[in-house]
Amino acid sequence: MRAALYEGVEPQLSFVDDIEIEEPRPGEVMVRVANCGICHSDLSMIDMMVGSGSTAVLGHEAAGTVEQVGAGVTSVAAGDKVLLTPLAPCGSCYFCARGEPTACSVAQSFTSGLRPDGTSPFSRAGAPVLRGLGVGGFGEFTVVRESGVVKLAPDTPLDVACVVGCAIQTGVGAVINTARVEPGATVLVTGLGGIGISVVQGARLAGASQIIVSDPVAERREAALHFGATSALDPMNDDVVAKSKELTNDIGVDYAFEAAGVAPLIETCVEASRVRGTTVVVGVDATLAASSVMGAVLATYGKRIVGSLLGDCHPQRDIPMFMELWRRGQLDLEAMVSNRFAIDDANEGIAALRAAKGIRTVLTVSS
Ligand SMILES: NC(=O)c1ccc[n+]([C@@H]2O[C@H](COP(=O)([O-])OP(=O)(O)OC[C@H]3O[C@@H](n4cnc5c(N)ncnc54)[C@H](O)[C@@H]3O)[C@@H](O)[C@H]2O)c1
Ligand SMILES: [Zn+2]
Ligand SMILES: [Zn+2]
Repeated sequence: MRAALYEGVEPQLSFVDDIEIEEPRPGEVMVRVANCGICHSDLSMIDMMVGSGSTAVLGHEAAGTVEQVGAGVTSVAAGDKVLLTPLAPCGSCYFCARGEPTACSVAQSFTSGLRPDGTSPFSRAGAPVLRGLGVGGFGEFTVVRESGVVKLAPDTPLDVACVVGCAIQTGVGAVINTARVEPGATVLVTGLGGIGISVVQGARLAGASQIIVSDPVAERREAALHFGATSALDPMNDDVVAKSKELTNDIGVDYAFEAAGVAPLIETCVEASRVRGTTVVVGVDATLAASSVMGAVLATYGKRIVGSLLGDCHPQRDIPMFMELWRRGQLDLEAMVSNRFAIDDANEGIAALRAAKGIRTVLTVSS
């Protein structure tokens, strides 16, 4: 099959047509990928794997059509439109039984780019190729566990729906599942890419009374106001902590979301949050930089810091809900897709993300 392949040497993708893909095993599904968004986590993978020599089909925000199903698959059939999700829970382990599917050890194997048994459905000239972050959406086809796909209505536009796979699950999920923001609460969001904009949409859905946002890119601040932000700050000119306090009657925000992937911003979020306020860490600082939050502050003021992976979403529960909210005009997916490129121009899409141009770039992988 054709794919935009990351070859582990240079920080860009190359275009090849000789990737071999296994037939789906029992419990697996083969999907023809129609569209895939580019997320900052793909860039982080590229930057972390430069020089490693590992090859990978990246892309984890995808939608497509079922091509073939393995033995025992019952929830989808060939021809169904599906959304792919990076974390495919087993449904029966310690964590799944407690309703925490993102902690499932089977789902967590997404970080390895391999199935839980250490194999990959992709290979090239006999050597395994990683299925980056659980999906492998930058190739014509992929093979995933049955729980890694969620059926979509036949009339769903896949070039718009794909952003639910990562951005919406991560951002809206962080608000409604991780933080459980209540109506009237005040919220700060640092970083306004696809993830931060989804947090803004989640906060608006939750009925937040104030959604304060911060990003150095003016175009993204403007976009955030369209998606429901109530005040936009430029961290290059504004004191984000002081302004957040000022806007909340010197109390501080109830919830602060770090969605830039800049570790020192965790401290900004904690300082901007109120006594007993919550900071939700969504961004992943791939430079492995640290944040220096004072333990005494956390204890004295009862502040909380909580991490959030894929918005603590349960794909089979939350993806149909997000699609329904979109149909009812409560979630704006169309405006998140600002750039569209053919798969052959994937490197241009990556350059747009590095330059923070638009919100999300969506690739047409196959038609
Ligand atoms: N937790 C999860 O499950 C999960 C899932 C997907 C992505 N992520 C992570 O979320 C982060 C955001 O992803 P994205 O695709 O939206 O990235 P993006 O690159 O599109 O957006 C990041 C934004 O942060 C802004 N920013 C940089 N410095 C800032 C500062 N000092 N203050 C405020 N804003 C600042 C940038 O201008 C940019 O607009 C990344 O770290 C990504 O790896 C986490
Ligand atoms: Zn992502
Ligand atoms: Zn499990």
